[in-house]
Amino acid sequence: MRTTLAVLVVLAVASGAAAGPLDAPGADKAVVCSACHGPGGQSPSNVMPILAGMPSWYLKKAVQDYAAGRRPSPEMEPYAKQVLQLGVDEIAAYFSGQTRQPAAVRPDAAAVERGRAAAAQCVVCHAASGKGDPGKGIPDITGQPQGYLQSQMLLFKADRRSPGDESLKALKAFFRQIADEQIVDLAAYYSSLR
Ligand code: HEC
Ligand code: HEC
Repeated sequence: MRTTLAVLVVLAVASGAAAGPLDAPGADKAVVCSACHGPGGQSPSNVMPILAGMPSWYLKKAVQDYAAGRRPSPEMEPYAKQVLQLGVDEIAAYFSGQTRQPAAVRPDAAAVERGRAAAAQCVVCHAASGKGDPGKGIPDITGQPQGYLQSQMLLFKADRRSPGDESLKALKAFFRQIADEQIVDLAAYYSSLR
């Protein structure tokens, strides 16, 4: 993993001189992320989160949580540590400056409608728009791939995302009383929002 990363970083730095999208500050440092998160952070996968258009404050928090092992992820932990060394501010600025394309996999229309009704429970924190509230540490969950949103809700429910984090205790208790089928519908709805 580390050797691959080193090679990718060298490639990234070498290609930094090229014209085009790699001109933006932080772009060369972000090339390494494209292996999983897609070019420019536009993940084409149903399970990998889209980084394009992600607000800087939230990308930074996620990276710090992964690097510290608070949010356990064998895939992300080594890269998160690397990001902190490379300069998280520049990488966060690069991704927040990219215009997000809609998730590649379109959710089922009936699931979206059921999810829309169920989402009344989420509005108090994520707002009617789904765009969250940076002041309260609540992320924008719109337009992410359905599979990714679903996996994170199930991780909260099982206390496997940021286990033992006191500030998320109420959120996890809340998810425990939502049926898995409804979590699928909620993920479809938020994935469909722009
Ligand atoms: C080997 C594949 C891989 C690479 C390379 C990778 N990531 Fe990730 N990333 C993942 C996976 C898998 C997840 C979801 C983990 C989870 O369940 O929390 C993730 C999640 C994230 C999240 C959290 C998104 C959210 O909505 O909470 C951020 C931020 C992130 N990655 C940033 C980066 C950055 C920046 C880079 C490049 C330095 C990078 N990743 C490279 C696999 C990767
Ligand atoms: C009490 C406030 C609160 C409520 C209610 C709430 N959330 Fe959240 N949600 C949060 C916070 C805070 C986070 C970020 C946690 C972190 O920083 O790790 C979050 C994160 C998420 C994430 C992960 C986003 C990502 O990029 O990884 C998803 C998905 C999500 N919420 C969906 C929902 C849905 C759907 C509902 C309604 C069923 C809901 N939430 C209700 C506060 C809330």
